[in-house]
Amino acid sequence: MASAASSSSSAPLLRVLALAVAVLALCGAEARPPPPLHGVRPLAFDEGYAQIFGSTNLALHGDGRRVRLALDESTGAGFVSQDLFLHGFFSAAIKLPADYAAGVVVAFYLSNGDVYEKTHDELDFEFLGNVRGREWRVQTNVYGNGSTHAGREERYDLPFDPTDDFHHYSILWTSQRIIFYVDETPIREVVRTAAMGAAFPSKPMSLYATIWDGSAWATLGGRYRVNYKYAPFVAEFADLAIRGCAVDPTTDHRSAAAAASSCDARSSLESLAVPAEQRAAMVAFRRSHTSYSYCHDRRRYPVALSECGAGAGLLPGRMFGLDGMKQHRRHRARRGAQDDAM
Ligand SMILES: *[C@@H]1O[C@H](CO)[C@@H](O)[C@H](O)[C@H]1NC(C)=O
Repeated sequence: MASAASSSSSAPLLRVLALAVAVLALCGAEARPPPPLHGVRPLAFDEGYAQIFGSTNLALHGDGRRVRLALDESTGAGFVSQDLFLHGFFSAAIKLPADYAAGVVVAFYLSNGDVYEKTHDELDFEFLGNVRGREWRVQTNVYGNGSTHAGREERYDLPFDPTDDFHHYSILWTSQRIIFYVDETPIREVVRTAAMGAAFPSKPMSLYATIWDGSAWATLGGRYRVNYKYAPFVAEFADLAIRGCAVDPTTDHRSAAAAASSCDARSSLESLAVPAEQRAAMVAFRRSHTSYSYCHDRRRYPVALSECGAGAGLLPGRMFGLDGMKQHRRHRARRGAQDDAM
């Protein structure tokens, strides 16, 4: 605008028109993602990412800053960060496929499965589609050094419809903790404990985003498969932001760790960790929206895993059944009515 104003004072109509066009562009009909978290600058797709599968089912929009991933009968689609990172803050604004999406899985995750086949690390946001009228569920998970025998899943319902609009989903990974966020709210904190050992991810990982057919397990343990009558299923990604310590993939991870310790982003990462005023928000979210917790699944883990006692997001055991699923208390309706009467 500054250059337009100085270029010519004899064309006020043009300036008005230019302004009108700019305003129209700002108010475009497309849903607009909220501003990026922690002021981390989003990258254009070509600046930081590369397609891994899906041919034309991955499409770029909005000056190469938005990515549409589609699942149809032929394939899903996905992309990966160009760099491997040892610690960082990873974020995307995501809008999930609307309507019938049973069996569809959208994943936003860190992994090094390509590099370390048997001892891989992984941090997951997985979105599990549902039948029409029932909401998407979100799952987070943590694997370290090939600990796939020990799932550390938590599942949540969301306080909004994730198919209506963009929301930010972010993962903070430092040497001390892992935090998952939904918009500004931290929803899970995994604090590194000595007993956790190598199950705490400690080798460089890449960031991935994918959409795929999870018919075998995504919706009620596979009872509802993907129905391609409703295809394509389209997930949109925007605000692809990373503030992390990129490492050279050709070095082994011990020297990579040494190299990354001098990374500028490193010192600022720990300061992003749950500030006091966000702890209450985290606890409130967890109490209201956690639908499954491996820490309370006594059938699977008769003794809770070591990290379950650490961190700020500890939930009372009475919220959950022996299978780790949230219990719906029978007296709730009556108590609610009493509350209303107060
Ligand atoms: C990771 O797993 C491998 C294979 O089981 C093992 O040899 C290695 O010691 C583990 N790493 C750590 C840091 O425990």
